[in-house]
Amino acid sequence: DGKTYFGAELLKWYRKERRDLPWRRSRNPYHIWVSEIMLQQTRVDTVIPYFNRFVDRFPTVGDLAEAPEEDVLKHWEGLGYYSRARNLQAAAREVAELYEGRVPRVKKEVSGLKGVGPYTAGAILSIAYDQPEPAVDGNVMRVLSRYFCLDADISKPATRVDMESLAASLIPEGQAADFNQALMELGALICTPKSPSCGGCPVAEPCLARLAGREKELPVKTKA
Ligand code: ADE
Repeated sequence: DGKTYFGAELLKWYRKERRDLPWRRSRNPYHIWVSEIMLQQTRVDTVIPYFNRFVDRFPTVGDLAEAPEEDVLKHWEGLGYYSRARNLQAAAREVAELYEGRVPRVKKEVSGLKGVGPYTAGAILSIAYDQPEPAVDGNVMRVLSRYFCLDADISKPATRVDMESLAASLIPEGQAADFNQALMELGALICTPKSPSCGGCPVAEPCLARLAGREKELPVKTKA
């Protein structure tokens, strides 16, 4: 059906087109976590050197937990949104104390860490642990709004909740890690905000927004 088609085509495309990014070379949940926190408000190209320096200096949760805060902030200098770095270290200390330094694989536990919202929790559980959890950020909501031609306002929390159910229903069996990254990658490279490159999109044919000529109007977003 349509959902099976979407997942299968997207995975095929991703396996051909995926960028070789440093955090994609490992399944280390802590490294995945660091990358997702850095990527929240910062572009991939900017994040790469910061990510490499950060995991080089703080290779494990324990190293980050034990480091002086100023050292952590120094490695964040230039990335901005410094509360991300402070929360990350606070959360690393929680993981060190509560979970023997191992990033939990239980949704409630990982979601309970400081600075880890539903998106980051889903990214860690799916990418590092291959659990069938959705990882829905603004990029993913844009892709889904267009493919299914949904007019729901993505600024509303209820829309995100609906998108999470929809995204979960699309995950091909046993392929959560690649599927979630494929969705992010499609949003980053093809299904871009202003001028989507439908000519290069693996799922353009049945895309309902494209068929309606509405791809540039979607998603609906009332708040910046
Ligand atoms: N943006 C958010 N997460 C990402 C990831 N894992 N790879 C590339 N871009 C991303």
